[in-house]
Amino acid sequence: MQLAISHLSKQYRHDIWGLRDFNLELGSGVIGLLGPNGAGKSTLMRMLATITRPTQGTIHWKNIDILKSPDTIRSILGYLPQDFGVYPHLTAFEFLEYIAAIKGMDQKISGSRIEELLTLVNLVHAAKRPLGSYSGGMKQRVGIAQALLNNPQLLIVDEPTVGLDPEERVRFRNLLSDLSVERLILLSTHIVSDVEAIATEIIVINHGRKIHHDTPENLMQLLNGKVWHWIVPSSELPDLKQKYILSGTIRRNDGIQVRVVSESAPATSAQQTEPGLEDVYLYLISKNGQQK
Ligand SMILES: Nc1ncnc2c1ncn2[C@@H]1O[C@H](COP(=O)(O)OP(=O)(O)O)[C@@H](O)[C@H]1O
Ligand SMILES: [Mg+2]
Repeated sequence: MQLAISHLSKQYRHDIWGLRDFNLELGSGVIGLLGPNGAGKSTLMRMLATITRPTQGTIHWKNIDILKSPDTIRSILGYLPQDFGVYPHLTAFEFLEYIAAIKGMDQKISGSRIEELLTLVNLVHAAKRPLGSYSGGMKQRVGIAQALLNNPQLLIVDEPTVGLDPEERVRFRNLLSDLSVERLILLSTHIVSDVEAIATEIIVINHGRKIHHDTPENLMQLLNGKVWHWIVPSSELPDLKQKYILSGTIRRNDGIQVRVVSESAPATSAQQTEPGLEDVYLYLISKNGQQK
């Protein structure tokens, strides 16, 4: 194992916990950290990036305690924070030069590395343009480039797809997938489709706690034979929402096709269907919410 997190907790105020008793062991691949707003994703990532100190618990990278020696992880870490901002008047090249200087990189090495990265994130054509003129997707790619300057073994990206259009989203996903060879990538999101296609493992987090950690395939097994669809008149929809975990609705000529998670057939006309990751996510989050 490369990354080992044990009993990690962050208490912001006496009644506010960002993370609680979080345990995790990870090797390599793309790990999707999936949870609703306020779940604790950024809190966990900031502690891994050694920006926030935990209240309790330990983090080890290759058996080295990173709370005791934070420089160990800083040297192998690339981090794209959720609120990543760029300087609108700098060009991509200038911005990356600036970050490289902050990271203490040698100027001779950083110049060629920046060119390499601009090619990798497909921004060579725009490298001399001010960042203020970039689209959301282009800015995120600059964000990834700055995180990759030191060729990190651990890459942490916090909600990188927020504000991207569908096409940019797909491109960004493919880029992360390409980068995952011989690296550990931790990607947080509250959007299931962001991680569905690329994550090798998924961690579902809610209320500061880990509620599930498995491969996408195994997660979907959880709901085998428990996802149903059938058609109802729209007047029945409010009742169904009360009674079931509703994971989808499609408007049709003859009513509304509803998709629900249920142990047994929810209606005589209901048909079983293949579970998707979205069904599993909603199921786990709603089950976890009820326990609170
Ligand atoms: N700096 C902070 N001070 C106080 N509370 C915070 C702070 N940062 C986060 N929190 C709280 O911690 C919880 C987890 O937040 P966060 O880690 O940002 O979740 P996520 O990234 O999953 O949306 C939330 O209840 C949030 O309000
Ligand atoms: Mg966050």
